[in-house]
Amino acid sequence: MTTTIALAGKGGTGKTTVSALLIKAIIARTKKPILAIDADPASNLHLALGLPMPPTVGEIREETSKVALEGQLGVSISRHDYLTHEIRMALEEGDQVDLLAMGRPEGQGCYCAINHLLRVIIDEVNRHYSYVVIDNEAGMEHISRRTTRDVNLLLLVTDPTVRGVKTAGEMARLAQDLEINVQDTKLIINRVTGDLPQPLQEAIDEIGIEIAAMVPADPEVNRMDAMGEPLVKVNSDSPAWTAIDGMAAKILRF
Ligand SMILES: Nc1ncnc2c1ncn2[C@@H]1O[C@H](COP(=O)(O)OP(=O)(O)O)[C@@H](O)[C@H]1O
Ligand SMILES: [Mg+2]
Repeated sequence: MTTTIALAGKGGTGKTTVSALLIKAIIARTKKPILAIDADPASNLHLALGLPMPPTVGEIREETSKVALEGQLGVSISRHDYLTHEIRMALEEGDQVDLLAMGRPEGQGCYCAINHLLRVIIDEVNRHYSYVVIDNEAGMEHISRRTTRDVNLLLLVTDPTVRGVKTAGEMARLAQDLEINVQDTKLIINRVTGDLPQPLQEAIDEIGIEIAAMVPADPEVNRMDAMGEPLVKVNSDSPAWTAIDGMAAKILRF
């Protein structure tokens, strides 16, 4: 059984930061390899994980459509086998985390057959892992296009502002409208300093999404990002890490 966790939220709220720390927490607790999917076209999860930038699924799609158009794909190799090989090659293997970067979503051109095959293959890859963590871009494009399988837990990351919380509420509704199969949705309030003001608390109550974690504003996270250091190497006394690790212990059944 694979548990798929997707992180979403507007730009700059901390999706990639939380993804990297959550991946670290799951690895520390399960000691099993985990699949990280970077579903943001701006692909930067690899930096937080301390991995090189892998070739993207978008690039594979473009290349394959060219090869197919030019008729270079022989009869001896099926498209499925060809794409499976390409995806395996694109999987960046870290110590305990493997990374797949989606790159740009499909454009207007009709790569329908290729897209369908890619979905099937990525689904097959997913099944080899107990945990898959998807770091999304703001629009949840990749989940909405069903590039990835159903989501067990959608974590909506927001800053501690009324506007941010309302946007998170909108995103939860968007997920429903897009008919994404989400089992459970929770809220992560990131970069918290002090108590939540009353209007913010009211906004949270109004959207009615349970808080999974309140992550403090953490100077160590800022410092590491500024220096280009991978966030997975954060000190064990970092407040952001402590909050995410505590959340992992609470909400995931290991
Ligand atoms: N808890 C935190 N404490 C301090 N800085 C944070 C925290 N979470 C995120 N940041 C900083 O905020 C910026 C945006 O975070 P990022 O994870 O890249 O957001 P997103 O992936 O949602 O666009 C980064 O510079 C990151 O270092
Ligand atoms: Mg990001």
